[in-house]
Amino acid sequence: MKTKNEDEEILSLIDKSRLPEHVAIIMDGNGRWAQSQGLPRIAGHQAGMKSVKRVIKTANGLGIKALTLYAFSTENWSRPQKEIKALMALLCKYLKIEVKSLNKQNVQMRFMGRIHQLPEFVQRELAKAIEETSKNSGLILNIALNYSGRADIVEAVSHLAKDIHAGKIQVDEINETVFQGYLSTSDLPEVDLLIRTSGEMRISNFLLWEIAYTELWITPVYWPEFNCKHFYQALADYQKRKRRFGGTVAL
Ligand code: FPP
Repeated sequence: MKTKNEDEEILSLIDKSRLPEHVAIIMDGNGRWAQSQGLPRIAGHQAGMKSVKRVIKTANGLGIKALTLYAFSTENWSRPQKEIKALMALLCKYLKIEVKSLNKQNVQMRFMGRIHQLPEFVQRELAKAIEETSKNSGLILNIALNYSGRADIVEAVSHLAKDIHAGKIQVDEINETVFQGYLSTSDLPEVDLLIRTSGEMRISNFLLWEIAYTELWITPVYWPEFNCKHFYQALADYQKRKRRFGGTVAL
């Protein structure tokens, strides 16, 4: 069992002036955790919500600017209807209960992905959460829902093509910065650190453009068991990395 002192010990290794500005997380392993406990898959998602709350509180407390969580991918529609329904209901329940607490914590909520394809009752809750937290200036909590990195790039290209067609931008004005401006993450800081739980060594169609120079941190721990200690460890390890961005000089 971890003790408070253990958390504090790892926390003391973190240099608060060199924190990642934007952390993204692939929250994986809810189903396997549930199975390991002899519980139905949805119990894994319910337990995963506790980790979501923990990680938001910790990231916000440390002063991290943005946290992007992969909650539902465009591929997740292939799961059993029962699980999809339960996930949507869980999300709405979370929003109904937690927006008050997010406001207290000064957290601003955002969502990215094909939101218009989600059930209307979910869209209504999302809109309410965005509205009610829009003035907050602390952590930006960005939840990827019905999200696909490839789809986001295709939508950016389509939007850019429309702007070219409308004469708003010329073809020879296109560069990486301009293109980035069309992605869902355009107004967020660069993703410095990507965490994936449950040990899988893949990106699963998450932030494809955005993670060009992101540091990856993968743990075998299942998402429901991911706690402050793991998060601090990821940050401490991130700070030990020498980021060269393709060059030779460590920054
Ligand atoms: C991956 O575990 C997890 C998901 C697909 C859903 C994660 C969603 C939540 C924790 C709730 C989201 C809500 C908010 C507010 C962010 P898995 O089911 O793929 O696990 P497995 O790989 O072990 O089967």
